[in-house]
Amino acid sequence: MPQIKTARGPEFSRIVSVAGHRGSRVVDNEEMCTYIDSSDEWIRQRTGIVERRWAAEEETPLAMAVSAGSKAIGRAGIRPEQIGTLIISTVSHFQQTPSLAVHVARELGLNDPAAWDISAACAGFCYAVGQADAIVRSGLSEHVLVIGVEKLSELTDLKDRGTAFLFADGAGAVVIGPSDEPAIGPTVWGSDGEQASVIDVASWEANAAHPKITMDGRSVFKWATTHIAEKTKEALAAAGLTAGDLDVFIPHQANNRITDSMLRHLGLPDSVVVSRDITHMGNSSAASVPLAMEALLESGEATSGQTALTIGFGAGLVYAGQVVRLP
Ligand code: UT7
Repeated sequence: MPQIKTARGPEFSRIVSVAGHRGSRVVDNEEMCTYIDSSDEWIRQRTGIVERRWAAEEETPLAMAVSAGSKAIGRAGIRPEQIGTLIISTVSHFQQTPSLAVHVARELGLNDPAAWDISAACAGFCYAVGQADAIVRSGLSEHVLVIGVEKLSELTDLKDRGTAFLFADGAGAVVIGPSDEPAIGPTVWGSDGEQASVIDVASWEANAAHPKITMDGRSVFKWATTHIAEKTKEALAAAGLTAGDLDVFIPHQANNRITDSMLRHLGLPDSVVVSRDITHMGNSSAASVPLAMEALLESGEATSGQTALTIGFGAGLVYAGQVVRLP
């Protein structure tokens, strides 16, 4: 029997850089209340959102992904040709095939990369980090570019007072490459298709226009504050750490009340910096974790080399999280 040679890579991978692009239009709660029967007070109390960012017409998912991706490559100090794999997480690319990733790869000037999209909604960024970690460590690519990008304003039903105030537009990108020391913990991930109908976007064929998101908010809230809070604990334990070892907590920016509940569940010390990026951004699904990471680093609330716990969760229902060293 001939022996099959297998790929071998470095022992560890790390997030080398992070960058984002936020939709340029600021939509405050006052404007939101011209679309739905609600109030600034209700939206703030129930979610923590003061304003959200929506993209202008020319800020397409392609344009926002290219903007975030090129910044991440520049910050990593590598050339675009050194990216061997591009993974894009999005639910905002309205074409079954080709993927958004091949278009982004062309615009970024990547050289013959493996490129594909994944559909894992608000968990998509953390799913892709898990994939990228495995790809680097197995030697399939030296550097992987991961981009979460959404233009949820196009998927939002502005007549639905149960969802319209939540969603936002943006892109967040990281470059993942080899590391001399452990810097990405095991990804804890999963799904529950029994709850597929809880957050839904109707099939394209049923709609001439873009389909819109529908959501049973209470069910998602309950699942996130119980099951996902527990999975977040598992991601910490999988990395061999305890709450006292953490510097930063970056949960998917779905609702500050969900974050508060997770904090109680995890018992994180007060010294842990917690992302509240949703306050001025809204929920940008696959882009929310990397955008929150970039914001904490840019504001100086968090610093490079610190230990952060991330968790994404959403439509599927799906979830994924891991402990990472901040770039
Ligand atoms: O990123 C993907 C994952 N998504 C999430 O994690 C979202 C999770 N869910 C949530 O964040 C929350 O469920 C929402 C923010 C969407 C809703 O908050 P809630 O506290 O669960 O509200 P509710 O649906 O239980 O409604 C409470 C009350 C109801 O009135 P009554 O029946 O108590 O009189 C609603 O009719 O609030 C009313 N209500 C509103 N009032 C003012 C519902 N929507 C609005 C509104 N403005 N926009």
